[in-house]
Amino acid sequence: MTDTDVHKGLAGIVADRTAVSKVNPDTNSLLYRGYPVQQLAAGLSVEAVALLLWSGELPSTQELAEFEEFERSHRGLDPKVREAVDLLPADCHPMDVGRTAVSVMGANDPHAQTSDPAAELQKAKKLFAAFPAVLAYDQRRRRGQDPVAPRDDLDYAQNVLWMTFGEEAAAEVVNAFRVSMVLYAEHSFNASTFTARVVTSTLSDLHSAVTAAIGALKGPLHGGANEAVMHTFAEIGIRPGETREEAAARSREWMENALAEKRKVMGFGHRVYKRGDSRVPTMKESLDAMVEHYGRHELMGLYEGLESAMDEATGIKPNLDYPAGPTYHLMGFDTEMFTPLFIASRIMGWTAHIMEQRADNTLIRPLSEYSGPDERSL
Ligand code: CMC
Repeated sequence: MTDTDVHKGLAGIVADRTAVSKVNPDTNSLLYRGYPVQQLAAGLSVEAVALLLWSGELPSTQELAEFEEFERSHRGLDPKVREAVDLLPADCHPMDVGRTAVSVMGANDPHAQTSDPAAELQKAKKLFAAFPAVLAYDQRRRRGQDPVAPRDDLDYAQNVLWMTFGEEAAAEVVNAFRVSMVLYAEHSFNASTFTARVVTSTLSDLHSAVTAAIGALKGPLHGGANEAVMHTFAEIGIRPGETREEAAARSREWMENALAEKRKVMGFGHRVYKRGDSRVPTMKESLDAMVEHYGRHELMGLYEGLESAMDEATGIKPNLDYPAGPTYHLMGFDTEMFTPLFIASRIMGWTAHIMEQRADNTLIRPLSEYSGPDERSL
């Protein structure tokens, strides 16, 4: 084997086929089951997108209504999950809470080891419905607040905000949140999805695959970037009331220094998209709406200053995590909750891929080129 046979990071390797989504960096587009994600984000509910990703087709009115009823009746925080979360230190990372919660859900699901297509779909639906209560409970317990029970008169997006903040969110806020959930739902063979497929390929169960995927998503080179963006903003200094121009000047200077120090700035760059992430313009519109809604123009100044300085110096564009981070911040989510929100959404994509992998499985097991010492004797 020569050096050129080694594909570090599997960059450029096509590992399998998928009908779930298509990322096309040449046309800067992303299709879920053939539909441009921008069109889906323009008006579809999160619940409808979930059904599309799982089944391959948009649901009929009746299918959607049945799923909405199912989802609303499976939103409650399971007492066993709550007990397990309560055992975790209040200062552990919320991604550890999310990972533990899914593992506990699996251990308590009587059908966890059954993996025929119907059972698998049922588990995916239950996980999608049940996970938001975990993150809402976790943010509230960290703040010393009592949990808020779900409401079955609210849709998915409205209810996540309700359970987290204990008040009904404004329509603009619900819409921005819905858009973020749709955009985060699926992105082909990214690191966490591939992790889920690797675990599934061993014929392990759905909850194990999702638990492993959460571990992969936690890292700042993947999902953890959305919270890292807010750490960058905090390092630069968030000064409510500052003008957009003043904030932009400060963030530009910060970026110039960061690049001079060869720092990697989270929220920029992408393994597949090299000319910009197809999801950013749609998410940016939601961020714009939140900046207007909350009257926090200095945050947009910080955003634009970093973006323009990075572009001028390197040509590297923002990825989805860049506008999503400040959007969640404005809504009132704690920074550490941003990646668990990504879990809530990506459960749709992960489980669609788990089902696809299981339907036509081959064990995923690459080779390695040995680089240790030549054979030797004791
Ligand atoms: N800041 C500064 N330089 C960067 C960045 C960045 N964010 N991203 C790439 N570069 C530079 C990198 O230093 C390298 O330069 P050089 O060739 O001089 O060494 C060059 O661009 C290529 O970067 P790479 O890391 O080798 O490229 P990759 O395809 O392996 O990495 C990436 C893709 C996403 C890991 C990388 O862009 C990165 O680390 N970005 C920051 C983390 C981030 O925002 N992740 C979220 C990804 S999108 C949402 C998701 O999937 O969760």
